[in-house]
Amino acid sequence: MESMNKEVLFSREIIDRRVRELAEEISGDYAGGEPIVVGVLKGAFIFMADLIRSLRIPCKVDFMQLASYGSGTVSSGEVVIKKDMGLPIAGKDVLIVEDIVDTGLTLSFLVKALQDRAPRSLKVCVFLDKKMRRKIPFAADYTGFTIDDGFVVGYGLDFNEQARFLSDVYIIKA
Ligand code: IMP
Ligand code: MG
Repeated sequence: MESMNKEVLFSREIIDRRVRELAEEISGDYAGGEPIVVGVLKGAFIFMADLIRSLRIPCKVDFMQLASYGSGTVSSGEVVIKKDMGLPIAGKDVLIVEDIVDTGLTLSFLVKALQDRAPRSLKVCVFLDKKMRRKIPFAADYTGFTIDDGFVVGYGLDFNEQARFLSDVYIIKA
């Protein structure tokens, strides 16, 4: 960790402001409703915790954990459900919360998997979007920040399980 060469990309103040904006938008869109917010473990847990506490609507909370077979920082596209959510979602409004969309493979898989359970609506909120790196088309309904290529850590995001606990988002320098 000490040896990781990195610099701040988004400070906690910038993040807080953007998360509150997202929460406002989501609260408006789901006004009168009570979505099931599904966090993707582990990366989304901090973002999700901040996001739901800024919502002006009630919500239910659940989590899923996915595993993608690949090495290091590259996902292979072969995604499996490692831990499923517990709540039934048929006929419900579901909002997936994920830390980052990169190739799009993970979220495409998850959206397809949850769509099969016949929710009333299914949307995706990502904290970060590396738009230029898509291998398959994927568009999130809500995006915190769009970033260029490069590996980021902090605010829940890790590099080999390191740096999740940091309050700011950092970009790793070569
Ligand atoms: P995708 O299937 O390529 O879109 O992969 C998305 C997943 O890769 C995210 O859920 C992250 O776990 C991981 N990931 C991609 N880029 C980064 C990054 O810059 N930092 C930390 N995790 C990343
Ligand atoms: Mg992840």
